[in-house]
Amino acid sequence: MSLLIGDTAPNFIASTTKGEINFHEYIGDSWCVLFSHPASFTPVCTTELGQAANLELEFKKRNAKIITISVDQTEDQIRWIEDINETQNSNLQFPLISDSDRKISDLYGMIHPNASDTMTVRNVFIIDPFKKIRLTLAYPASTGRNFVELLRVLDSLQLTSNYKVATPVDWKDGEDTIILPAIKDEEISNLFPKGHTVIKPYLRTTPQPNK
Ligand code: BEZ
Repeated sequence: MSLLIGDTAPNFIASTTKGEINFHEYIGDSWCVLFSHPASFTPVCTTELGQAANLELEFKKRNAKIITISVDQTEDQIRWIEDINETQNSNLQFPLISDSDRKISDLYGMIHPNASDTMTVRNVFIIDPFKKIRLTLAYPASTGRNFVELLRVLDSLQLTSNYKVATPVDWKDGEDTIILPAIKDEEISNLFPKGHTVIKPYLRTTPQPNK
């Protein structure tokens, strides 16, 4: 069974490079970016975890915790972090989950047997403080992800959780947003006092409400 947007992220107990965690307790009142990667001591993963570490402050500004998972042993992950920091000029602080029995990877559908029987693919789950899954992604081992894009998605998820707007293609924090189709024309001036533009009856924009 695959996990879908809107599902509760299953809880688990895990060994990590920062000790044992209860996943839901680790998330607490934060958002969480849980991402799998194929293996320690591999080149693309080294660049990805270094970039995640270098952007950790940006994730923290958005009240989001990072945590990653692979089927490796904790001792290997701890040795690998030294290489990541050396080669990516980073200071990696977030936990790496060791899932050597693959229980968590199976629970989250992170092993795609027709891609690899032995390694997790590059999944991302963005989970909100209510432990609901708000985004899922799956990339193949050969393609590194864009972690700046994950920050952009967090900005959109957090904005659209609080206001009756959606965000258009390539939207970035501070740019105009789209008024939800369910909002009636007569409701707009109360909800969006900064003004709005009607491009088509179904395409109405307004300045970002929380800026
Ligand atoms: C990598 O991280 O470089 C990688 C891992 C597994 C397969 C291919 C590439």
